[in-house]
Amino acid sequence: MDTVTVHDKTFEKYIDHAALMEAIDRVCDRLNADYAGSTRPPILMCTLHGALMFTSEVMQRLSFEARVACIKVSSYVGTHSTGGITSVLGPTKDVKGERVIILEDIVDTGLTIVNMRSMLAGLGAADVKVCTMLFKPESFRTHLEKTGLCPEEHLPEYYAMEIPDDFIVGFGLDYNEFGRNYPDIYKLKQ
Ligand code: IMP
Ligand code: MG
Repeated sequence: MDTVTVHDKTFEKYIDHAALMEAIDRVCDRLNADYAGSTRPPILMCTLHGALMFTSEVMQRLSFEARVACIKVSSYVGTHSTGGITSVLGPTKDVKGERVIILEDIVDTGLTIVNMRSMLAGLGAADVKVCTMLFKPESFRTHLEKTGLCPEEHLPEYYAMEIPDDFIVGFGLDYNEFGRNYPDIYKLKQ
């Protein structure tokens, strides 16, 4: 399919499934190198629902033992300029003393990962890293700078692909809850 329609919007093919799989291969090579020989298996923290498909791909490529847990958060605009997140579900495993790898579908403004890192640290996680399928570096930089945070200090440690500030659907990503099921990734048609 070259274009798909989700609700009222048309999206055009953007990232082919095969190219996405190669990018996931590469990021998992890095995880495998960094987590080889871990004494205690890290927890892969799948952020629902967007990271479901990415989590499944990552799990199949890991050469080290890992456990899986889920978390669902929702963002809100709080009294702080950065806004915040609240946990709607999970984390479904106790993270106290654990090494956690947050698996995200996409890092856009950075609000979610900045808050999720501190939420998990607050629950006693020993170490928190972020592995995201897609990363929008321009949006990330602009938004964190606007809220007075240093983008370099909050970068995701691992990402499979960088993309410009386009709105996309597919491979787990939704537009108002639909469009997650496509094996390829589509961007909003201008
Ligand atoms: P952030 O907090 O702005 O970094 O955004 C993180 C969340 O926003 C992701 O987990 C996605 O659920 C959603 N999101 C950001 N960009 C897109 C997009 O292009 N398509 C669909 N969802 C997106
Ligand atoms: Mg979403």
